Amino acid sequence: MRVVVYSTRAYDRESLTAANAAGRHELVFIGAALDATTAVAATGAQAVCAFVNDRLDAPTLQALHAVGVRFVALRCAGFNHVDLAAAAALGIAVGRVPEYSPHAVAEHTAALVLTLNRKIHRAHNRVREGNFALEGLLGFDLHGRTVGVIGTGRIGACFARIMVGFGCRVLARDLQPDAGCEALGVRYVELDELLAHSDIVSLHCPLTPQTRHLIGAEALAHMKRGAMLINTGRGALIDTRAVIRALKSGHLGSLGLDVYEEEADLFFRDLSDEVIRDDVFARLLTFPNVVVTGHQAFFTADALAAIAHTTLDNLDGFEAEGHARHPVSIEHTA
Ligand code: NAI
Repeated sequence: MRVVVYSTRAYDRESLTAANAAGRHELVFIGAALDATTAVAATGAQAVCAFVNDRLDAPTLQALHAVGVRFVALRCAGFNHVDLAAAAALGIAVGRVPEYSPHAVAEHTAALVLTLNRKIHRAHNRVREGNFALEGLLGFDLHGRTVGVIGTGRIGACFARIMVGFGCRVLARDLQPDAGCEALGVRYVELDELLAHSDIVSLHCPLTPQTRHLIGAEALAHMKRGAMLINTGRGALIDTRAVIRALKSGHLGSLGLDVYEEEADLFFRDLSDEVIRDDVFARLLTFPNVVVTGHQAFFTADALAAIAHTTLDNLDGFEAEGHARHPVSIEHTA
């Protein structure tokens, strides 16, 4: 089956080509992101493969349908960027990679916690300049602190286990408590209680209309003064402007982000020769107590291999059975 693979970088080409070693599909790699104007590049293909910041709104899906595409293989877990109702109406099937390495994301989340707490980002710069002063680098013991995990699915549960390993008390909020987490001693509480008692709050729920701006001015006001907020879920889980106000007032102690509300215009490319025009993002970068990574939490060799394997499995499924082996449909958002 001919498949146009959008938003590809060298590492995508490598992992997907390795997974397609038997040559079952004709993969056509293009660097451009998918949107209504680039959909025409899929002419002659039955399927497209898309990533997190590709635009799969109704106009794009209509444009894909018009050139003959009947299957979208997402090479990511999140599907908040797909208009599933439009896909269903057009008869376009959608597959995703529900699980590839929860460890990759959970471990990166822990890396953000440790970096912010022990100021590794600042220490690194200082030592390179011959500055070995410790003022400003004071951290706290994670052991005995309270960590609030919002969303204890695959990634959140893995992160909770890591934090339990550090000797933290873990509070959690999920619509469906996880028995494995409870067995570890994780205590499920209401959101307000989690926010009020946690020294670190980490977001691992999907972005849905219900969770958009879950952490806004009101939730921030409920958080402990000086607490740390980590978001490796999706950018719009937090209201970035409200978070900046909380950082300015000192109420929010520190912030670690791997995702950003408007990341589609920034992430996954080298913009080091350009001026950043997003003033909200630029403001975030001015805080010494903010660390931002560019949606790299998933980015381990193990995760890339697993993503490529499941993506090929979905393509095989669509070709052989007419649907993805890991489908995503409108019911998933209900
Ligand atoms: P999952 O589906 O296994 O777990 C999500 C959990 O969130 C479920 O237990 C669900 O019940 C819970 N949930 C849903 N609505 C909630 C709410 N309102 N409040 C509290 N909990 C709620 O998903 P998984 O694999 O753990 O991934 C979580 C999210 O992480 C994904 O949706 C995606 O947005 C993000 N992600 C980020 C990556 C990165 O590289 N930064 C990579 C992969 C995923």
